[in-house]
Amino acid sequence: MDNQEQKHKRRIRYKGTHPKTYKEKYKELQPEKYADTVEKVIQKGSTPAGMHRSICVKEILEFLQITPGQTGLDATLGYGGHTLEMLKCLNSKGHLFALDVDPVELPRTRERLERLGYGSEILTIKQMNFSNIDQVALESGPLNFVLADLGVSSMQIDNPDRGFSFKIEGPLDLRLNPEKGISASERLKTISQEELEGMLLENADEPNAEAIARAIISEIKKGKDISTTTQLQQIIKDALKFLPEKNKNDEIKKACQRCFQALRIDVNSEFEVLYEFLEKLPATLAEGGRVAILSFHSGEDRLVKKSFQRFFREGIYSEIAPNVIRPSAEECNTNGRARSAKLRWAIKA
Ligand SMILES: C[S@@+](CC[C@H](N)C(=O)[O-])C[C@H]1O[C@@H](n2cnc3c(N)ncnc32)[C@H](O)[C@@H]1O
Repeated sequence: MDNQEQKHKRRIRYKGTHPKTYKEKYKELQPEKYADTVEKVIQKGSTPAGMHRSICVKEILEFLQITPGQTGLDATLGYGGHTLEMLKCLNSKGHLFALDVDPVELPRTRERLERLGYGSEILTIKQMNFSNIDQVALESGPLNFVLADLGVSSMQIDNPDRGFSFKIEGPLDLRLNPEKGISASERLKTISQEELEGMLLENADEPNAEAIARAIISEIKKGKDISTTTQLQQIIKDALKFLPEKNKNDEIKKACQRCFQALRIDVNSEFEVLYEFLEKLPATLAEGGRVAILSFHSGEDRLVKKSFQRFFREGIYSEIAPNVIRPSAEECNTNGRARSAKLRWAIKA
């Protein structure tokens, strides 16, 4: 036997048929190249990694009634799904402005839309908070249509580096713009127990806000950093040990979801910027201008509803949605993330 044959050959580790980490999901992350894989994932009712499936597209387009030559704003570009549909309605005439605060996803979406032929002659993308809509209007002139699809995109949730999901290990960041402000981990270092309890109640209606806030602050007081998503998940889990065994795991999962949501709303000042946007909105709209807002949280929906009703009473909006519009059962079945969506609209007098 020669030496070659005697050498122990290390068995190649079997990795399984399904990618385990976000970065291994390379096929889904190149949706243009792997259309079949993407289609299969969508068929199963999931969202392919690195993509976002736009919600209520039909309902939004039906309401906005976009015609070629108009000027509009997509206040929340995200993956660019709604933007693309709105651009198609413009049919190369008019102009669309699109905003997003996210410096990570924005360049990817810009490139994707450029590859589809939508350059600066028809589309202006800005990394900007929609609370600055008045600044956009200075450049765009009166807007014929505006869309805001609030919250986070699937790309942001699925990317472990962003810390949006308690299910994936990553830094406890939760900022839509990681280059600005402080991370959720930093925020927890300075917050008082009372303030944290208030945040969990106000931003997420967390029924066990007191127990969770106490457990988090007790860890911080011991000098421990809560710097990762799974560390926070574990603290919540331990804090809720007292829950009855029946449904315990489900309840803990829901509590984690609510706590992460509450922290995300806080570190991004989501209610404050939405309020500012809603206040400035009427002055940016043309006569007969239409606005549609899609929200995923009862607190956000309440702000939208109140603002629309107030400006309607004052005669600034001529018409507002009489009721909230929900995605169809079919859309909810094929896209779980649509289930909590609420759509409202208004028309400028
Ligand atoms: C639900 S996603 C939008 C998805 C998009 N409509 C689509 O079809 O792909 C929400 C996006 O809004 C952005 N966003 C959230 N708050 C914002 C704000 N105050 N100003 C600008 N962008 C914001 C997020 O970074 C995220 O990319």
